[in-house]
Amino acid sequence: MPGAGGAGAAAGWLLAFDDVQERPLAEALARAAGRPLAWVRRHRFPDGETRLTLPPALPADVVLLRGLQDPNAKLTELLLAAAGARELGATHLTLVCPYLAYMRQDIAFTPGEVVSQRHLGALLAQSFDAVVTVDPHLHRVASLDEVLPGRRGVALSAAPLLGRFVATRQPDALLLAPDDEAGRWVRAAAEAAGLAHAVCVKQRRGDRDVEVALQGASVAGRAVVVVDDVASTGRTLAAAARLALGAGALSVDVAVTHALFVGDAWEHVQAAGVRHVWSSDCVPHPSNAVGVTGLIATALAASSAAR
Ligand code: R5P
Repeated sequence: MPGAGGAGAAAGWLLAFDDVQERPLAEALARAAGRPLAWVRRHRFPDGETRLTLPPALPADVVLLRGLQDPNAKLTELLLAAAGARELGATHLTLVCPYLAYMRQDIAFTPGEVVSQRHLGALLAQSFDAVVTVDPHLHRVASLDEVLPGRRGVALSAAPLLGRFVATRQPDALLLAPDDEAGRWVRAAAEAAGLAHAVCVKQRRGDRDVEVALQGASVAGRAVVVVDDVASTGRTLAAAARLALGAGALSVDVAVTHALFVGDAWEHVQAAGVRHVWSSDCVPHPSNAVGVTGLIATALAASSAAR
């Protein structure tokens, strides 16, 4: 049975995978949203298959929490859990996916490439009535609704929260987007915090081969904070940091929504001279400094009210 919800609890439940990394986020979201929290229990068979066990009777309105960092390992379980939840009583199923993977592959860059964004979106649209996420990497499509045919997509942004957090730590910061795609996040962060900003240009030659140029922005003598949606290999942040320090920046800190930091990314970013890394808690990571559960809870309440 789920734990009791807070005052004014919604009738619907929050369902979360019993995952040691995601547990704190699930508990925080349940509190913020006033939803009873129930768990998807997992048993991993020796051959790699998983048995999922959900509460045997679910209410009509269910929100399922699952971040899609390390997506290939999680997608099968997610789709199975959604189908199971419907069999057990859920008639309106919302996926809260703080990090929505596969959004960057939005066109076939060379002939024959699968446009993963479109097909992952279609799969999620078959399973969920709505998807709520934070700072999805939408570049060539205007809105998340376009990725989820016939379903409701809610794309929230942690950028204003990160901007306001940065302002408390570095009130005179110059926010720097490493590339044009990060321009929208750096503008939102700068506007929310009343900080200056600039946008660089980036050329990516390979997974771990990135070059960033300042495009005339003056960083000499400034406390620079590089703002981006996602840190994956860390090469983008490291290139931007080296560039800014080489051009006379006093210090370089980093603010990112999604702290993936795969492989040696963390060490790479430190080696480039980055002082602090601040991230949202969309992806659980030691750098988490800004919570998004309040933002998500507000969006869930608005969605419920609109139905
Ligand atoms: C891409 O344009 C994104 O906004 C990030 O800049 C990018 O995904 C970061 O990747 P990495 O950490 O591997 O450089």
